[in-house]
Amino acid sequence: MSFLKNMLGYFSNFSTHFAMDLGTANTLIYMKGRGIVLNEPSVVAVERDSGRVVAVGRDAKEFIGKTPQHISAIRPLKDGVIADFDVTKAMIKYYLTVVKQVHRVQRPKMVVCVPSGITQVEKKAVVDACFQVGMRDIHLIEEPMAAAIGTDLPIELPRGNMVIDIGGGTTDVAIISLGANAYSESLRVAGDEMDEAIVRHVQKKHQVALGINAAERVKIDIGSAYPGSYNGSAAVVGKDLINGVPKNLTITSDDVREAIEDPVAAICDSVRRALEKLPPELVSDLQETGIALTGGGALLKGLDKRIAEQTSLKVYVPDDPLLCVVMGSGRALEEFDRYKKVFLN
Ligand SMILES: Nc1ncnc2c1ncn2[C@@H]1O[C@H](COP(=O)(O)OP(=O)(O)O)[C@@H](O)[C@H]1O
Ligand SMILES: [Mg+2]
Repeated sequence: MSFLKNMLGYFSNFSTHFAMDLGTANTLIYMKGRGIVLNEPSVVAVERDSGRVVAVGRDAKEFIGKTPQHISAIRPLKDGVIADFDVTKAMIKYYLTVVKQVHRVQRPKMVVCVPSGITQVEKKAVVDACFQVGMRDIHLIEEPMAAAIGTDLPIELPRGNMVIDIGGGTTDVAIISLGANAYSESLRVAGDEMDEAIVRHVQKKHQVALGINAAERVKIDIGSAYPGSYNGSAAVVGKDLINGVPKNLTITSDDVREAIEDPVAAICDSVRRALEKLPPELVSDLQETGIALTGGGALLKGLDKRIAEQTSLKVYVPDDPLLCVVMGSGRALEEFDRYKKVFLN
């Protein structure tokens, strides 16, 4: 009897039902009954001529800006859409193969969270890639919906819940009530735009070219969206644009705040637009429920304060905003019948 119990316990450890957060910056995979089993950047390095994959994830991200002529490091979902189908498919297949264990179910189920606003053709590419690695029962869910579930918002109630998910390529603003979007906007301005703005700022102010990964590091370490919310500085090395030699620079929080002002303001504007378009009933709900800020961009220092000040609403950042979407997708997988109606057709 105990042998049987052990065996059952053993088998239940291996499930081939998965949920995946296919983000523009990071891909995370949740295994049913287990939790998060993979968390890697959405980057693939391929050989230009043959298309052969040479590195995926963290290793490939290190390649950015450092590849020899015959290799390119690609972020296949960069601008919130699938810019490169073949590479996206290769990445999905690679990651699922990494986490996939022994097959023990007949119809492996998969919930995939996709950037909202993805087209039918792009959805098909995602579904195809999952199918090709053996997944059979495939369901798509939009990013802000998954983020809301992952943040424990009572999405099924007739009550407005607002989520702002700030990723790499897109910022999704959604107001959810009765399990559906009462309003949603997907803005192609998010973390990547901030990194690019830092590169431009340093170039203009110091005549120094900075790599994109270094710019991201600076944003994460000392970036802020609200004056006084953080004061620090970072030492970086770039390339002097005048004579091509390496140049050491010290960048301050104020520099970074100035550099990223445009993308930050664009995000705040999209929040204001959402509130303007909502019926008064939902706006008054928000007074009570507030705004949940998720995605990696939620970690930008002072952004919560800035949005709270502009909207007069409470803004809160859950404990691990980078995990909300995958945890929400995972919950939709675990409680499939409860969340059936939130999946895309
Ligand atoms: N502490 C931080 N401060 C500001 N931005 C951050 C921080 N941590 C991560 N990010 C940014 O969050 C973005 C990635 O967030 P994520 O939710 O994983 O995106 P996606 O859903 O598009 O994959 C990147 O632009 C990254 O630079
Ligand atoms: Mg995301």
